[in-house]
Amino acid sequence: MCGRSSHPSLLLWIIAAGLSAALCDVKTASSLTAEAGRPVLLSCNISLASGEDVRQVRWLNRHKVPVLTYQPPAHVSHSLAHVELVPSRQNASAITIMRLRPDDAGCYRCIFDIYPSGSQEGSTCITVVGKVHLEGNRTAISGKPVTLSCWYSLPERVRQVLWTKTTEQGDTAAVASYSKRGTHTSEQFRDRVRLSPTLEDSRLTVLSVRTEDEACYTCQFHTYPDGARSSTACLSVYVLPKPEVTHVVSSPGVTEANCTAQSRPPAEITWEVGDENRTLGAPVSSAYEQGDGTTTVTSTLLFQSGLLGDVAVRCVVHHRGLEKPLMLALSTNVRPAIIVLLSVCGVAAVLLLCLCVCLCKCFICTQD
Ligand SMILES: *[C@@H]1O[C@H](CO)[C@@H](O)[C@H](O)[C@H]1NC(C)=O
Ligand SMILES: *[C@@H]1O[C@H](CO)[C@@H](O)[C@H](O)[C@H]1NC(C)=O
Ligand SMILES: *[C@@H]1O[C@H](CO)[C@@H](O)[C@H](O)[C@H]1NC(C)=O
Ligand SMILES: *[C@@H]1O[C@H](CO)[C@@H](O)[C@H](O)[C@H]1NC(C)=O
Ligand SMILES: *[C@@H]1O[C@H](CO)[C@@H](O)[C@H](O)[C@H]1NC(C)=O
Repeated sequence: MCGRSSHPSLLLWIIAAGLSAALCDVKTASSLTAEAGRPVLLSCNISLASGEDVRQVRWLNRHKVPVLTYQPPAHVSHSLAHVELVPSRQNASAITIMRLRPDDAGCYRCIFDIYPSGSQEGSTCITVVGKVHLEGNRTAISGKPVTLSCWYSLPERVRQVLWTKTTEQGDTAAVASYSKRGTHTSEQFRDRVRLSPTLEDSRLTVLSVRTEDEACYTCQFHTYPDGARSSTACLSVYVLPKPEVTHVVSSPGVTEANCTAQSRPPAEITWEVGDENRTLGAPVSSAYEQGDGTTTVTSTLLFQSGLLGDVAVRCVVHHRGLEKPLMLALSTNVRPAIIVLLSVCGVAAVLLLCLCVCLCKCFICTQD
C-alpha cells in the first residue's frame, strides 16, 4: 500500500481498486506474517527525482506513535528499544523489529520528508502468529523413558494442548491432553505416560518405552485467536543387542563359531581374526524376525582351530543404538593353560635344583 499523504482520497481509491504499487512512489510489501520472538524487517522504497533530497524518515506504528525517526544517512534521533535502523540508500528505508511481540502487530507507516517536494509515505501491516516447536524425530531405547517436548511461541494464547499418536498403519489415537481444567490421559496410556501440567511447554513422557510406542506423535495447541496449530515428530524404538558367541570343533582341525544378536533394528555382525587368512571362507549371516519386532542375526564363521590359540577371535556387533560396537572374544583357555604349564614347570625346576643342592651338601660334597 502506498500513496501521497496529501491525497487521502487517492490512497483509498488505490486500496479499493487493488492496484499494484507500480502506480505509486513508495514501494512496500503490503502485509507480512511473522512469528513472535523473531526479528522482522520492514522496508519502503521510493523513487527520487533528481535534485530531491530526503531530510528525515519517520516510522509510525498503528497508534501513530513514532518507533524510529532518523535523518539520512543514519542519524537516529528517536527509536524504541527493540527497533533498529538498517542502513539503506537514500531512496529506501528499512527497520528491524528485533523480537516481535504480539502487540507489535498492526500497520506501520514510513514517512519520507523530501525537499523540496513534500512528503511520501507507505504502509506495511504485520500479523503476529505463534509457531509450534517440537524437537525432530527421536530414537528411544526399549525399557528406558523418553520425553517429547513441544511449545507454542505465544504461550499466552494457548487454551489446551493435546497429544495424539499415529501408528505406521495410520491409526490415530488421543494420548493425553491438558487444559486449565486438568489433565486427561486415555485409558490405554494411563499407566505408562505422563503429561506435564503446563500450557507453555508441554512434555509427554513415556515411562518405559516398548516397541509398540514406535509411532508419530503430534502435539496440537488449541489457541485463541490463532486456532489449532500442531507439529509432528516420529519416535523410533531400539532394542539393544545382548550378543552371545558359541563355538564347536565341527570337523578335525576346523572350528565353527556362531555370534548371535537379537535387536531392533537388526544388528550387523563382523569378525576380527588377525591378519593371517586362516578362516575357511567368509562368515555366513542369517536373520530371523521375531514376533516382538526384533530380529535375531546369527553369523557363522569357520576357521582353522589353531587360530584360536594364536590370536583372539572376536565377534564385533554394530548397532545404531550403541555408542561403540560390542566386542565378544571367543572364550579360549589355550593361552592361560600354557602360562599355568610354564609356571608349574618353573616351580618344579627350582624345587629340583634345591633338592640337588641339599643332597650334594648332605651326602656327596661333605664326604671329603
Ligand atoms: C526495495 O529495494 C531493494 C533493493 O533496491 C529490494 O531488495 C527490496 O525488496 C525493495 N523493497 C520493496 C518493499 O520493494
Ligand atoms: C535507488 O538508488 C539506486 C542508486 O543509488 C538505484 O540503483 C536504484 O534503482 C534506486 N531505486 C529506486 C526504487 O529508485
Ligand atoms: C521423521 O520420520 C518420519 C517417519 O519415520 C519421516 O517421514 C520424516 O521424513 C522424518 N522427518 C525428519 C525431519 O527426519
Ligand atoms: C550355529 O548356528 C547354526 C544355525 O543357526 C547351527 O546349525 C549350528 O549348530 C550353530 N553352531 C554352534 C557352534 O552353535
Ligand atoms: C582366505 O582363504 C580362503 C580359502 O581358504 C579364500 O576363500 C579367501 O578368499 C581368502 N581370503 C583372503 C582375504 O585372502
